[in-house]
Amino acid sequence: MQYLFTYEERLKNFDWSLSENELEYKKGNIINIGWYCSDRICLKGKADKIALFYEGFGGIEKKYTFNDIRLAGNSIGTFLRNLGIKNDDRVCLFMDRIPELYLSFLGVLKIGAIVQPLFSAFGDESLFVRLENAQTRAIITQRKHLPKVRKILDRLPYLEFIVIVDHNKIKPLEKKEVAFNMEESIPVENMEIFPAHAESPSVLHYTSGTTGQPKGVKHVHYSLISQYLTAKWVLDLRDDDIYWCTADPGWVTGTSYGIIGPWSLGITQCVLDTGFSAQAWYRFIEKYRITMWYSAPTAIRSLMKAGDEIIKEHDLSSLRHLASVGEPLNSEAVIWSEKIFGKPFLDTFWQTETGSIMITNFPGMKVKPGSMGKPFPGITGVVLDPKTYQPITEPGKIGLIAFKPDWPSIMRSYWNNKEKYEEKFVNGWYLSGDKASIDNEGYFWFVGRDDDVINTGGHLVSPFEVESALLEHPAVGESAVVAKPDELNMEVVKAFITLKPGFTPGPDLELEIMNFIRKKLSPLAMPQDIEYMEKLPKTRSGKIMRRLLHAKEWGEDIGDISTLEND
Ligand code: WT7
Repeated sequence: MQYLFTYEERLKNFDWSLSENELEYKKGNIINIGWYCSDRICLKGKADKIALFYEGFGGIEKKYTFNDIRLAGNSIGTFLRNLGIKNDDRVCLFMDRIPELYLSFLGVLKIGAIVQPLFSAFGDESLFVRLENAQTRAIITQRKHLPKVRKILDRLPYLEFIVIVDHNKIKPLEKKEVAFNMEESIPVENMEIFPAHAESPSVLHYTSGTTGQPKGVKHVHYSLISQYLTAKWVLDLRDDDIYWCTADPGWVTGTSYGIIGPWSLGITQCVLDTGFSAQAWYRFIEKYRITMWYSAPTAIRSLMKAGDEIIKEHDLSSLRHLASVGEPLNSEAVIWSEKIFGKPFLDTFWQTETGSIMITNFPGMKVKPGSMGKPFPGITGVVLDPKTYQPITEPGKIGLIAFKPDWPSIMRSYWNNKEKYEEKFVNGWYLSGDKASIDNEGYFWFVGRDDDVINTGGHLVSPFEVESALLEHPAVGESAVVAKPDELNMEVVKAFITLKPGFTPGPDLELEIMNFIRKKLSPLAMPQDIEYMEKLPKTRSGKIMRRLLHAKEWGEDIGDISTLEND
């Protein structure tokens, strides 16, 4: 397959106005992502083209044209507007990957409200801190998730509406609950779209840091300029593609490239809302003749583990382009995909805060397995000396990945957290919080994070959140949470705990504590390993030395322990 342009050609005279022109956007004009992803595509003559093929549990299949998603967005938007939801109000989407999730995303944006997507496997505590921080006014959810919402409702004075998309009318609605059934709703042919401008807020994604509660990353409608062009150039999406992004819209990949990128380009995409299995995934690719596949290293490693025999049972010849994101893509996975699919998974690097792909193996560029590639045109990416914050020019030397903060989709703030936001900028650079080196050909090589955040299977988990939740368990005295190496997920959560008097260590208690965290936070945050300790290592000032425990898990040199308590 020939690519239309080379990286070098794309770099030449690059300007984001290229994207603006294709989207027929002029500075100062209205730019509403909800409209761009549906109404505009219909106006371009693609009203009857399929926008979404959906497959859920039990073999349920649904499909929607661009006109269908336009009407559904209108219906949901109008329904919310009639409830009194207005622009800038936060509306949380708390659903599995059902069509309503994707269509509500458009509906909320169409009325100028801010979408707050949250992963539906979150437990009540994870949900609570994010709804409280954003002072969310409405949450759109399914019956199955109601118990978690009801449990925290009394602590959320700002939450006025719980919109249930699958209310069965058997059980009565409770406090603040309203029913909205998309299939039974009257199609709204025309609605007044909120006249969002470049800087009008659009999406609020929560991301975890080392300390403190998760931060709400605020994006604006102008982010479309980045998302559209990166989807077009890096994911190489073309009009007749059938695209599959395996990420959940609770995370940024699932919105930037699971909704906004493909739909603003008028591309048909597929969603599979069943759990992972190699068999199910290959069958899905075969059935829908998927051509472009955007996935993550942990999934790729799981497929490698499932073996090559099973691949022979499927016709995967439709695939023409593959890409990956979220965690380091090891060279073995790149080489394996080249052997099996005849093309490598192209690694892409970016973050919730960047809103779009920053460093990438550009289609057609020479692939160096294990490298993340080079900055996208229009992105100035460097590694900085950690002491001076000056760009390192020496090839191979490790520094902090940083970007000149001037691309369209960079976050505009952390919600209500100016201090943490300002910490991200030094000397005119945006600090990603990751470390890398750059080789003599300008390729970036990922080294690791520059903080204690755990990246498990491509999902960031805050040690602070897990430690706080552990302390709420009656048996736990103190806790320290670190990453532990894992073959499949790269890292998993490990907890060191001391017990309160009267509790005895043992496998039953371990299981109970694990489940406690799974329910409260999420399956991702659940420690895969709990180690009981008599005492946690602390500095003389009483701070738990996570670094020491981390080094122990990774078999690394323990480093300077001169501040360790010496009794
Ligand atoms: C962190 C961002 C937007 C992507 C989904 C995750 C890590 C991301 C790579 C990669 C090595 C990667 C970094 C980054 N990460 N892509 N290609 N190679 N690490 O978004 O939850 O904001 O996480 O994921 O540590 O900072 P996120």
